[in-house]
Amino acid sequence: MVKVLVSDPIHEDGVKILREAGHTVDLRTEITAEELKKVVEGYDAVVLRSRTKLTAEVLEKADRLKAIARAGVGLDNIDTIYAEERGIEVFNSPEAPCNTVAELVIGLMLSMARHISVADSTMKQGRWEKNRLTGIELSGRTLGVIGFGRIGYTVGKKARALGMEVLAYDVLMDKLRRFVEEIGANDVDLDTLLAEIDFVTVHVPLLPQTRHMISAPQFEKMKDGVYVVNAARGGIVDEAALKAALDSGKVAGAALDVYESEPSPDPELVERANVVCTPHIGAGSVEAQRGNSTIVAEKLIKFFG
Ligand SMILES: NC(=O)c1ccc[n+]([C@@H]2O[C@H](COP(=O)([O-])OP(=O)(O)OC[C@H]3O[C@@H](n4cnc5c(N)ncnc54)[C@H](O)[C@@H]3O)[C@@H](O)[C@H]2O)c1
Repeated sequence: MVKVLVSDPIHEDGVKILREAGHTVDLRTEITAEELKKVVEGYDAVVLRSRTKLTAEVLEKADRLKAIARAGVGLDNIDTIYAEERGIEVFNSPEAPCNTVAELVIGLMLSMARHISVADSTMKQGRWEKNRLTGIELSGRTLGVIGFGRIGYTVGKKARALGMEVLAYDVLMDKLRRFVEEIGANDVDLDTLLAEIDFVTVHVPLLPQTRHMISAPQFEKMKDGVYVVNAARGGIVDEAALKAALDSGKVAGAALDVYESEPSPDPELVERANVVCTPHIGAGSVEAQRGNSTIVAEKLIKFFG
């Protein structure tokens, strides 16, 4: 019988799936580090989010442990190197928030195009600024998607449904071209993308190669009055260069869910009326949480056969 310890709060559907598959699931979502060290030897799998720390000190007591399932993406709280040495499989669920993040990106683009957040905040201040709030349509505009993986593809597909032209750029385009074709987008090199877009959204991981990949030289290549979205990771768009591009009018508006400094982003950026900000809520939906829990539950069931 497979014994599973759920040590952080996860959506109940994942627990249900594990139980229906005949696994014994113990919910101890407030377990302390000391308690975990005492009980971990009794489990075949641990399901966690970011609160529980599976350090080498804990894992060396986990004689029976065969799998760790992180309901979510980041694995920083797990000693993955030690886990691998011990032959413990580690699962996560990067596919879960994909639609949720893509919907936020579309919402951010609509908010910039139609001044929705400015309209809302001025009305709440008792102002009726109808004439100042003339916007633009997304339909017919060109969106550049940099990084055409899970989220980039989903954003591209939704943008096409809104009548946008989509240009995609990815270092692994040879493997992704069929997805570009499937949604009626075009794959281009980065310089062509930068020169032709009205909106740009980045969906690459933060790596040394992608840090500040949108900076002063890239803004220089764009048309005047472009709109920029970063709902990937802070630092992919260079915030100092973005401020300069907003000052010069090169960038008409920016929408940010992620920042170089979290949770205290640069107020000089956040306070601007033409910058729409959200506090890293890209993956924050009920559906994404349910997905995190059910996807890792299904991976565990498959693993234990
Ligand atoms: N805002 C949020 O809360 C939130 C939630 C989930 C994911 N994210 C972020 O979204 C981003 C994309 O996630 P995903 O699940 O789509 O990842 P993914 O791995 O499916 O796709 C990333 C794509 O970027 C491409 N890429 C890597 N380096 C590149 C480069 N130098 N130039 C061009 N393309 C490059 C890869 O080839 C890949 O196709 C990540 O940064 C992730 O951290 C943010």
